Amino acid sequence: MHTELKVNGTTHKLDHDPRLTLLDALRDHLELTGSKKGCDHGQCGACTVLVNGRRVNACLSLVAMHDGDQVTTIEGLGNPENLSDLQAAFVKKDGYQCGYCTPGQIMSATGMMEEAKAGAPSHVSPDLAGEVSLDDAEIAERMSGNLCRCSAYPFIREAIAMAAE
Ligand code: FES
Repeated sequence: MHTELKVNGTTHKLDHDPRLTLLDALRDHLELTGSKKGCDHGQCGACTVLVNGRRVNACLSLVAMHDGDQVTTIEGLGNPENLSDLQAAFVKKDGYQCGYCTPGQIMSATGMMEEAKAGAPSHVSPDLAGEVSLDDAEIAERMSGNLCRCSAYPFIREAIAMAAE
């Protein structure tokens, strides 16, 4: 099969097995290893990337479904000399322990903040849809698809709240 992807602003043409996942395409074909493989079953969120601005578990998605799509990975957000606001907030608030889930957490939080701004409803605080300022329960609910085995959740939520200010 042939699929054309724009990843972090660069167009890539892939010839691939139809069963290739987006995660394996990114990691094994494009050498973008920031997106992590945790469960490989859509349960941990370590593989979260943005596809056309929306959060996607890359392990659950076949790359063939994304012909022409724009994909953003952690490598596209910032770099050590120029961190995104969320990346800087994670550093400032120690929003990690081992760090394995961190790229997925940051990509998910990036997409989540855009969803909140766009008015996507939340189960916890439906009235907050459309607000950029997110309280702790709101952040926890909107980030519930991203697991942290080290349980750094309070620091992760603090970092997201700081970036959302
Ligand atoms: Fe994709 Fe866990 S590796 S959700």
